[in-house]
Amino acid sequence: MASTKRIPMIAGNWKMHLTSREAADLAAAIKKGLDPDLKHEVLLAPGFTCLHAVKAALAGSKVFLSSQDVAWEEKGAFTGAVSPSQLIDAGCTAAIIGHSERRKIFLETDEIINKKLKAAIKAGLVPVLCIGETLEERESQKTYRVLETQLVGAFAGISAAEAAKTVIAYEPVWAIGTGKTATPDQAQDAHVFVRKQMERIYGKDYAEAVRILYGGSVKADNVDELMSQPDIDGALVGGESLKADKFLRVIHFQPVLSR
Ligand code: 13P
Repeated sequence: MASTKRIPMIAGNWKMHLTSREAADLAAAIKKGLDPDLKHEVLLAPGFTCLHAVKAALAGSKVFLSSQDVAWEEKGAFTGAVSPSQLIDAGCTAAIIGHSERRKIFLETDEIINKKLKAAIKAGLVPVLCIGETLEERESQKTYRVLETQLVGAFAGISAAEAAKTVIAYEPVWAIGTGKTATPDQAQDAHVFVRKQMERIYGKDYAEAVRILYGGSVKADNVDELMSQPDIDGALVGGESLKADKFLRVIHFQPVLSR
C-alpha cells in the first residue's frame, strides 16, 4: 500500500483542560517549536471557550484548529450545543466527533454521531471520527464487530464524495488515559481492519486515501514505533499534548522503519 500518499496528521485533544490564557500559551509554545519545513498536518482541539484565544495564538502558522464536538443542527433551541457555523466563525476547520468520552459519558449513539458527521460535512468542517472498543469488548473477541458497527453507523447515508475529507481515529477505550498503549502490532491490525471496512463501504480508492489516526496513551517515547506502522497515518493525543515539549516531540516523530 502506498502509505506515502497519506499526509500524516498529529492532533492534540485538550479535553476539558486549560483556561484561555493557558491554552493560548501552550499553542504559542507549540507554534514556536515547529520545524518550519514540517510536511505533515498538526491540529489542536481546545475546549470551546479557548477557541478564539488559541486561534489568535496560532496566527501565521499552519496549525489547524478543531473543536472536540459539534451540534448536528445549525441553530435553534439547543441549550449548551455549538453549531458547525459557530465553530467555523471561531476559526475551526475541523471537528472531533464520536469521541469515546462523548459516547460513554454523554451517551452518544451511532445515530447521533451519524447526524453530527453529516452536519460537519455539510458545513465544510473536516470530521475526525473516533471509534474504538472497550476492554471488555476486546477480551470477548468483539473488537472487529464493534468497529464495523461504529463505522457503518457513522457513515450511513453519506456518499464517498461527501466522506472524502473525513479522518478516522482508532482509539481503543482501554488505552485512553490509562498509560496502556496498544502495541504497534495491535494498532496496525485494527487499522488494517478499519481500512478494509472503508473499502467495503466506499471502495479501494477511498480506503487507500483515508487517514486513520491512532489514539490512546500516545507519548513522546512510543510515537516513533507507532508511526512506523504502514497503516497508522497519525496520532490523536490527549495527555501528552498538554505539555509543549512532549507534544513537539510527538509532532516531530521519527519513524524507526520506513513507512
Ligand atoms: P490519552 O492520550 O490521554 O490517552 O487520550 C487519548 C484521547 O482520548 C485522545 O482523543
